[in-house]
Amino acid sequence: MPQNRPTVLVTGGAGYIGSHAVLSLQQAGYDVVVLDNLVYGHRDIVENVLKTELVVGDTNDRTLLDQLFASRDFAAVMHFAAYAYVGESVTEPAKYYRNNVVGTLTLLEAMLAANIKSFVFSSTCATYGVPETVPIPEDHPQRPINPYGMSKLMVEHILKDFSAAYDFKSVIFRYFNAAGADPEGRLGEDHNPETHLIPLVLQTALGVREHIKVFGTDYDTPDGTCIRDYIHVTDLASAHVLGLEYLLKGGDSTIFNLGNGNGFSVKEVIDTARQVTGREIAVVECDRRPGDPPGLVGSGEKAVQVLGWKPQYADLGNILTHAWNWHQTRHGK
Ligand SMILES: NC(=O)c1ccc[n+]([C@@H]2O[C@H](COP(=O)([O-])OP(=O)(O)OC[C@H]3O[C@@H](n4cnc5c(N)ncnc54)[C@H](O)[C@@H]3O)[C@@H](O)[C@H]2O)c1
Repeated sequence: MPQNRPTVLVTGGAGYIGSHAVLSLQQAGYDVVVLDNLVYGHRDIVENVLKTELVVGDTNDRTLLDQLFASRDFAAVMHFAAYAYVGESVTEPAKYYRNNVVGTLTLLEAMLAANIKSFVFSSTCATYGVPETVPIPEDHPQRPINPYGMSKLMVEHILKDFSAAYDFKSVIFRYFNAAGADPEGRLGEDHNPETHLIPLVLQTALGVREHIKVFGTDYDTPDGTCIRDYIHVTDLASAHVLGLEYLLKGGDSTIFNLGNGNGFSVKEVIDTARQVTGREIAVVECDRRPGDPPGLVGSGEKAVQVLGWKPQYADLGNILTHAWNWHQTRHGK
């Protein structure tokens, strides 16, 4: 545990993955300040569960950032704040480039001005586009097929150039599908609107939705449905703490995939959800969606080797059990 409790700024810390990272940072002995504009974040989670300081504000607000950075010493910034709805990014690209690229650049410039040199960034497997090889390694070509993925790739390029030009280091994590919830039930996934498979399946089990749509049942996969890599959010959070510690010990800028290495099909997710919840989950089979690759699975091996990352909850049953406990508390009956 660090001696003098360094302080970390977590942008987007009122959101799904950011809130779990705040909890892991606190457990590892860090003080945390959350910056979140609450467009999608949850004030009650920061105030009542994480019990840490919440600055309600936007990464595009340079004046606010300068004041915040002048107000105390930050050892590093963990940057989760972004918009992440792929479909919306196609119809409203300006919104995505403004928030995800310009907002990040504003934050990075404020960090440079304040002499904060360590940055942990949430990137995504969407930067790869349609994979040529599975499991996807970090050096796989990056050809995003939507503005959301492109906005994250642009930031990756900015970070590479910052590392070359300035005394500035970053760890980029490209996540696959974040899933699950805090095993002790304190935090979980609460997106509105919700687009991720596991919460949609669990909302169907709760009766909040009538059915779950399965897009494509004729893919070249064992059961015909798409295969995705679901990575437990608590395992993502622990990787972020290790990435931060790597930077604070003087590690060079680098990039890690965070995936399970193990794909699960849409049908497997629904079947496991039926077992975990003991409830009926009605399915409606639909046509394929354009741009959905059959398989997206990432290897987290580099993070295991370099950071000593040890994912604890790779099992789909664990992921669904933790998510189900959370959904019942937050939304259910
Ligand atoms: N959920 C996934 O499966 C997944 C996969 C890959 C990458 N990511 C990335 O991880 C990060 C977190 O995702 P999440 O699922 O927790 O999303 P989320 O929407 O729950 O969290 C994002 C948070 O950032 C806040 N925010 C957005 N723009 C902001 C801004 N300009 N200033 C301040 N706050 C702002 C939102 O209010 C929200 O609380 C995002 O960057 C996302 O692109 C998520």
